[in-house]
Amino acid sequence: MTDELKRGLEGVLVAESDLSYVDGEVGKLVYRGYDIEDLARGASYEEVLYLLWHGSLPTAAELDAFAADLAAEREVDDDVIETVRALADAGERPMAALRTATSMLSAYDDEADEADDGEATIRQGRRITAKIPTVLAAFERVRQGAEPVAPDPDLSHAGNFLYMLTGTEPDAVSEETFDMALTLHADHGLNASTFTAMVIGSTMADVYSGVTGGIGALSGPLHGGANQDVMEVLHEIDASSKDPVQWVKDKRDGGGRIPGFGHRVYKVKDPRANILEEKLRDLADSSGDTKWLDYTTAIEEYLTDQGLVEKGIAPNVDFYSGSVYDSLGIPVDMYTPIFAMSRAGGWIAHVAEYQEDNRLIRPRARYTGPEDAEFVPLDER
Ligand code: ACO
Repeated sequence: MTDELKRGLEGVLVAESDLSYVDGEVGKLVYRGYDIEDLARGASYEEVLYLLWHGSLPTAAELDAFAADLAAEREVDDDVIETVRALADAGERPMAALRTATSMLSAYDDEADEADDGEATIRQGRRITAKIPTVLAAFERVRQGAEPVAPDPDLSHAGNFLYMLTGTEPDAVSEETFDMALTLHADHGLNASTFTAMVIGSTMADVYSGVTGGIGALSGPLHGGANQDVMEVLHEIDASSKDPVQWVKDKRDGGGRIPGFGHRVYKVKDPRANILEEKLRDLADSSGDTKWLDYTTAIEEYLTDQGLVEKGIAPNVDFYSGSVYDSLGIPVDMYTPIFAMSRAGGWIAHVAEYQEDNRLIRPRARYTGPEDAEFVPLDER
């Protein structure tokens, strides 16, 4: 047993996985051997889910059956909608509302307390993945003073979410863009939220617990919360009429970090950021509105000139995702929940994979507290 302490578990190998691989030195991400660029451009989110959960890309017939099964699970119980309503009325934050509602979903799954094999985990995971968009869209609608929109089983996972959010079927470009964003966020090795879900899964707790824990971990600003921070910065710059480069200079002079930059694994630009940047460029070209593209490009160029990117603090996926979501009309504080909506697929895949050859995850801490403290009874203290 080694006594070397690895803060933040940096670089510590804790499991084997066939699911995804991140090469941070060259900026490469693969899901089960397929390059993220090929998947983002050529596969739907449903295909990616199938790949992650069942080990191979589906045939057309397999995809049809899989997508239909997923779509058939979209409805959530009225009690869940009422809880979502109460949370929105109380002013709850979207990620916290999603965490609460996801946990509640298990009450309506008869299998939730019986799962002790990978297949049951995937079956329950399919229900969770199908229902998260319904919960999220309902929360947003209620918050805006509108009624929730029932899911449409004839629409894709991406298209149905945008439909439930706005009440209008999305155009092809919006659906395709959102679908691509879901694919890009679906899995990413043993990041903090995936590891959280795995730790929970390693106790053989049900997968609702794992996904609920994953949502909690993802909500932090050092992880999934950064995409919201990036967009808030862009809005702040816009409202102050400050030059984006000046804003970044001031932030760095004050010792602050630039959200959307830096990554524990990537030492070059995140490949997902490259794809989203390209998408943002397409959207800006077609709408003629280049504001966010201009701001983000100016910030990236400045930080590159300053040598930050060369030092390995390069744009991550969150730097461009916010601007893309903004172009789709999605409210800023829904960005991290949307990340969760996609990443749930990866969490579920990792939990199921880990449980196939399960070993309870139980690390240890070096004890640095006092020894031999003399106990004093309460009434003598
Ligand atoms: N802006 C400016 N400097 C930075 C940034 C940044 N965004 N990120 C890291 N640095 C600097 C640190 O100040 C530190 O400098 P120092 O050695 O001179 O003190 C050095 O880079 C290393 O930073 P660490 O915090 O040790 O690196 P770590 O691997 O723990 O950080 C993290 C990774 C948390 C993502 C960090 O880069 C960060 O806070 N980024 C901003 C938040 C963000 O975008 N998070 C999203 C990550 S992607 C995702 O989760 C989907």
